[in-house]
Amino acid sequence: MTQPSVAFDPESEKFLRDRYTVLNELRSTTPIHSYPGENSAGRACTAFVFTAYEDVLFALRDRRFVRDSRTLLSDGATPPPPPQLQTLSASQRNMLLFRDPPDHTRLRSLVNTAFSPRMVASLEPRIRAVVDELLGPIETGLTFDFVQSVAIPLPVIVIAELLGVPTEDRALFKAWSTAFARTIDYNPSMDTLMEGERVTIDFRDYFRELSRQRRVHPQNDLVSELIQVGMDGDRLSEEELLDMCILILVAGHETTTNLLANGVYLFTQFPDQQSLLREHPNLAESAVEEVLRYEPPVQFTSRAIGEDMEYKGHLLKRADLVDVWMAAAHRDPAVFDNPDHFDITRTNNRHLAFGQGIHYCLGAPLARKEGAIAFAALVQKFAAISLATDDVQWHPSPLFRSLVELKVRV
Ligand code: HEM
Repeated sequence: MTQPSVAFDPESEKFLRDRYTVLNELRSTTPIHSYPGENSAGRACTAFVFTAYEDVLFALRDRRFVRDSRTLLSDGATPPPPPQLQTLSASQRNMLLFRDPPDHTRLRSLVNTAFSPRMVASLEPRIRAVVDELLGPIETGLTFDFVQSVAIPLPVIVIAELLGVPTEDRALFKAWSTAFARTIDYNPSMDTLMEGERVTIDFRDYFRELSRQRRVHPQNDLVSELIQVGMDGDRLSEEELLDMCILILVAGHETTTNLLANGVYLFTQFPDQQSLLREHPNLAESAVEEVLRYEPPVQFTSRAIGEDMEYKGHLLKRADLVDVWMAAAHRDPAVFDNPDHFDITRTNNRHLAFGQGIHYCLGAPLARKEGAIAFAALVQKFAAISLATDDVQWHPSPLFRSLVELKVRV
């Protein structure tokens, strides 16, 4: 087994304080790192950590890397989830993000059209209007928290309207969503999982009631559309419908909030790039791509090995685990020139922030649109945006790159 050249512990203080240095070191010394792990049956296996671009891309694209490790174990090998976590695990099992074909293919085909670039283009006027409403009360000279004022509400409002969820309930589902997202982070504690169980029960009840209303009075929204799909054949069960809504709501805003806040943070750290964007607002789209590369909101994802294979001299055995770090791949000098440099004019930016292959992010066109509109509006409205604190705090999460708050002066 490859010995780590640097201790790799994504929960360590060192990692959480300076993650890109740790990832860069690991990639340049041990790009395929491995350590003794445990599979979903609680049996010993090898856990791999991929950090080089080529290997990350390979794992995301190759179908022998699968999401649902339980299907790899013989019948009965996977212990049932503890009774106190039954709803959470049933809900996650219903989500396309955690499924493999053919179920993944079926679930994905039901929602694909709702997030097509054409659909997203039709949302553009509404996104602009929400950005204007949120920036409206912010006058030059003010200091404010960008996370609470813009980065949280913008994606929440957009995704809630798309689904057909009353936006007045947004404080409620923001809290549920954050608790749910924590359950898929690195090594969640039992307390985190129990909280996840509670919010999943609330989330499902909420969507059960909403879908009951939409069955009687369909509207022009995604929940009504998904109900219709379910009624057209038995393509979507009641619980799959509820869990699809939860996934879209959670995935649709936690990550986009981070794209927006990380972007504004970077513009304060690289004022030349901020000025460049102000002079050339048509760079807003490539600025979004560079923010996604430089500070990816989702830093890694996980797979299990579907069948024994040899890869670059390593034996990857069925049911072994792999964490693929997009955040490390994005700083790989084999692919990106001057990778630690933030450059909104970067061309051929082949970042993997939305994943690759069959699980490629469903909401990528929507997130990109929200980011480009918000960044362009901000630099147009304010002649300068600077950090109003010396103490920038990130959430202590290996998975999400997420600011606790972002006090800025405009
Ligand atoms: C900047 C914002 C976003 C980032 C960085 C992001 C990132 C990702 C990544 C990395 C994956 C693939 C995970 C994997 O392969 O294991 C993914 C999948 C997914 N994302 Fe996003 N996402 C963002 C925004 C959104 C939005 C706005 C939505 C919904 C409206 C959304 C819904 C989904 C869904 C449903 C999947 C699962 C797709 C599948 O398994 O086929 N995401 N996202």
